[in-house]
Amino acid sequence: TDYTVTVDPSRTGATIDDTMYGVFFEDINRAADGGLYAELLQNRSFEYSTADNKAYTPLTAWTVDGTAKVVDDAGRLNARNRTYLSLGAGSTVTNSAYGTGITVVKGGTYDFSVWARGDSTLSVRLSDADGALATAARVATRGGWAKYTATFTATRAGTTGRLSVTSSADTALDMVSLFPRDTYKGRRNGLRKDLAEKVAALKPGFVRFPGGCLVNTGSMAGYDAASGYERKRSYQWKDTVGPVEQRATNANFWGYNQSYGLGYYEYFQFAEDIGAMALPVVPALVTGCGQNRATDDDALLKRHIQDTLDLIEFANGPVTSKWGKLRAEMGHPKSFHLTHLEVGNEENLPEEFFARFTQFRTAVAARYPDVKVISNSGPDDSGSTFDTAWKLNKDARVDMVDEHYYNSPQWFLQNNDRYDTYDRSGPKVFLGEYASLGNKWSNALSEAAYMTGLERNADVVKLASYAPLFARDDTVQWAPDMIWFNDQKSWGSADYEVQKLFMRNVGDQVVPSTGTATPSTLEPITGAVGLSTWATSAAYDDVKVTDADGNALFGDDFSGDAARWTGSGRGSWSVQDGQYVQSDEAAENTMVTAGDPSWRNYDLHVKATKKSGK
Ligand code: AHR
Repeated sequence: TDYTVTVDPSRTGATIDDTMYGVFFEDINRAADGGLYAELLQNRSFEYSTADNKAYTPLTAWTVDGTAKVVDDAGRLNARNRTYLSLGAGSTVTNSAYGTGITVVKGGTYDFSVWARGDSTLSVRLSDADGALATAARVATRGGWAKYTATFTATRAGTTGRLSVTSSADTALDMVSLFPRDTYKGRRNGLRKDLAEKVAALKPGFVRFPGGCLVNTGSMAGYDAASGYERKRSYQWKDTVGPVEQRATNANFWGYNQSYGLGYYEYFQFAEDIGAMALPVVPALVTGCGQNRATDDDALLKRHIQDTLDLIEFANGPVTSKWGKLRAEMGHPKSFHLTHLEVGNEENLPEEFFARFTQFRTAVAARYPDVKVISNSGPDDSGSTFDTAWKLNKDARVDMVDEHYYNSPQWFLQNNDRYDTYDRSGPKVFLGEYASLGNKWSNALSEAAYMTGLERNADVVKLASYAPLFARDDTVQWAPDMIWFNDQKSWGSADYEVQKLFMRNVGDQVVPSTGTATPSTLEPITGAVGLSTWATSAAYDDVKVTDADGNALFGDDFSGDAARWTGSGRGSWSVQDGQYVQSDEAAENTMVTAGDPSWRNYDLHVKATKKSGK
């Protein structure tokens, strides 16, 4: 079929901001520890717990030859780093790191450090099954807790390395660490170079962080130095700044542990290093992602609002301010120039969310009128939750609203016109998460086609980020993903190439064009697709959801919550009583929010016909 595009250079369309296309970093699929954060050892501070993952113990990733036990007592390193290792005289502990083990390059420099208490000599070895990977180091320790360091130069390459520490006398150890010297921009406590470079190569306009579901799920209470702390806390930025040995670790919503070695300072620094606008997300005190709770604890809400004001001070405040001083002590006296922040992520309870969001927004506007506070539209891009959230945002003249959707390639082709009809006088759109469900070229092409629709509507859609950004190939909670990696290498998906193409070639202004045809809107849609978005939409008829054998899963009428929470095309998701759960045993606790524990996996298949005229 001939297809003619007519471009009219005499007309001008929307202006496109340089920040239009960005990235969304969440610590999912081991994107942080074992990923972008360059620390090579796993469970360096012996804080792993079964609350993080049923398979974990405080000695996960460690083996012991001799006597060693993890202790939680008053002799600890500090109140935020609860547990430490008590290593017996003549005993050895060995860390197996992530994946196949420690990867080193020949001639590479690796910085070892440890906090120790007691008079001892530590023999530290970096080796694999074939022997030493570097000359062993000896570290003399004396007295109370102090930090000790040593440097290794790898004499050969290896991918299955281990780090062993042998103690000559009874010694307490904590924060056992091994970092490659060659991090992104050479920063200490820095980022894995190849992964950071892949993000930098995109030239993103902004970095949204640290989540996602990670941000506003779990307990909203904070760290309690007196009693220890709950391990399923929402992401609270103050846990993640200051010296790394004083950061309170946490269970990760995605089923593992987060050391917070990659924390808010490192995120801001990374955004600045790659020339991107930092766009943090703080919890709204209403959960999302399958957890439906809103706190009524006013003091707790006020504390989180104050934390948000303090975050702005941490980013932008003078070095004479409390939090600006901490930023300066961490190495960045100058402001990070924070201009945008988001409150909440995918809340299922729009009224409850909006009531609390408004308090954040009012407090920020009063103190920092130049900082834009971005709101949310719920877990879904259609349905009553979405409609209610949008109405509330619109009525209150909110600046910008975050939308998320994960859908089939067909959906992306058929919905290119989504924003053509958005109200030009309403809030702007931040498309904070989207992906065509798969990492094939056809997915990437459908995203490219869709992005032309975003760009055409750049007067309404101000920011857009594909999601998720990273996946470690042995720990995948969510696919597709933009950049994949293991310990030895990383590779961009086809979707990465599309993002790169758009991000590196952001135009200034849209030149209006017309075409002689549009993609058909009446084709059947088959395959694993994101039900959460469109199956509940009034735009579809004859929706059938089956397992791989064609057995109906919901009957003909599965509208409402049951369908809304049936994530699909996401490998490890499954359905239980209308809630979604992860098939990953480790994360089961985190995700199941209701119903019978006898759940099963579904490979969901969907067939539907788009209603004519919608
Ligand atoms: O991008 C993965 C997840 O998708 C995010 O954590 C969440 O916001 C969305 O449901």
